[in-house]
Amino acid sequence: MLEPDQIYQANAFDLFPRIEDGSIDLIVCDGPYGVTINEWDRIDDIQEFNLELIRIFSKKLREGGGLYLFGKPDCIDFIDYRPFLNLKSKIVWYQPSRLAQGRFKYTNNYDIICYFIKGEKPKTFDLDAIRVPQLVELDHRLRCERVPSVVSGKYGKTKFNGNGKNPGDVWGDIKQLTYRSKELVNRDALNTIQKPERLIERLVKASSAKGDLVLDPFAGVGTCPVVCKRLDRRFIAIERDEKFVEEGGRRLQEVENDLAGRLF
Ligand SMILES: C[S@@+](CC[C@H](N)C(=O)[O-])C[C@H]1O[C@@H](n2cnc3c(N)ncnc32)[C@H](O)[C@@H]1O
Repeated sequence: MLEPDQIYQANAFDLFPRIEDGSIDLIVCDGPYGVTINEWDRIDDIQEFNLELIRIFSKKLREGGGLYLFGKPDCIDFIDYRPFLNLKSKIVWYQPSRLAQGRFKYTNNYDIICYFIKGEKPKTFDLDAIRVPQLVELDHRLRCERVPSVVSGKYGKTKFNGNGKNPGDVWGDIKQLTYRSKELVNRDALNTIQKPERLIERLVKASSAKGDLVLDPFAGVGTCPVVCKRLDRRFIAIERDEKFVEEGGRRLQEVENDLAGRLF
């Protein structure tokens, strides 16, 4: 079985059998989207590819564990994932800075992050850890709270909370990295590879607790392992590209040095 807290250089499919069934609390799956010319992104049928992942992940997750599956808007169209996992939300990660070059239709400027859980109820959904600022004034919100669905509590709606609100399912507050971003590891990692730490942090904080085991099967330059390390989660990370694995290792070492420095 795989030891946690390492980035394994391998084809993820070769290592899945070495992950114990029912042992994973959360999976952050930012793998191929099937849309670019990158060698690693060439997938014949992205929906069937994602269905196969969902089938495998449903075995690896413990009851109530979560999966965040990244992709383009059609990434789970026309496949039946329902025998395996329960789709709770389709989060739109809106990127207004994306080049809008289409001439004959509306250019896509968002990614989808499909949030699934195993079973009916999430093991962890720490809303307090991911609240975002309230945008409407209290008076307005209080008027909305007098509608019957909130008063009865039947639909699990929340009341006004001065610490902030649920981020909802359209996320425009976290920007994709640019060449000027301090966390960008190198120019080649922009756009198709490296995700902002804040984005991954929101997923990890919401859907796992300290000490939980997080699987990142397509780790790229190690954003999820870095976030896990900082937030005190264990992780199993897999990445096929040797250079990315090295880059991830370097980033992890920086976090370790940083954490060690804080102890003194
Ligand atoms: C979108 S990137 C992940 C980026 C990552 N979230 C980050 O912030 O650095 C997808 C990664 O999956 C890797 N990959 C694709 N197919 C793979 C496979 N079968 N096994 C392991 N890694 C794979 C690619 O090399 C690429 O680095």
